[in-house]
Amino acid sequence: MKRVTLMEIFEHHIAQKYVRRAGLAHAISAAYHAYKFSLEYGVNPDLATKAAFLHDIGHYTWYRNGQWDYNLYKENDIHAIKGAERAHKLLIRLDENPVAAKEIALAILLHTDSYLPEQGIQLEPLQKVVALADTVDEEPGGAHHYRKISDEKAKKMIQKLDDKIMEHLNKEKIKNQATMN
Ligand SMILES: [Fe+2]
Ligand SMILES: [Fe+2]
Repeated sequence: MKRVTLMEIFEHHIAQKYVRRAGLAHAISAAYHAYKFSLEYGVNPDLATKAAFLHDIGHYTWYRNGQWDYNLYKENDIHAIKGAERAHKLLIRLDENPVAAKEIALAILLHTDSYLPEQGIQLEPLQKVVALADTVDEEPGGAHHYRKISDEKAKKMIQKLDDKIMEHLNKEKIKNQATMN
């Protein structure tokens, strides 16, 4: 099965609409952090970067009188739930492996515990990597959602990350073949 690339995800109209709304710069840097952490934690970088790139795809901007309202957000926000579903739909449309799509959706669902009634859920390594990638890129007052990036730079960075992932996956394949022989 051919790998669905980050570039294909980025170029899909669902991502164009909703990842941009949540902040493209934040999505890309979270994906880069996720790549780094995935190698540290021995997690599949393909899944980690996809989940991190899409983690805020369910984001909604909570405003009152033209101002970002943190209390409104705290009270009403379900962006992780919406995002998990939206990302899953997008990935399935792109013909992602359904098991991978489910794992990515779960990591998105659990990337924040701000909406959960009880804290202290035990995260799987992939989920931990994605939550961590998000946290290290956050800025006070949600400013990371509004950081700008040009389209040209965004595409270059996504392509570079796709190349790194392919290189890593190919190396793993060769390693596995070597141990099988
Ligand atoms: Fe989030
Ligand atoms: Fe985020």
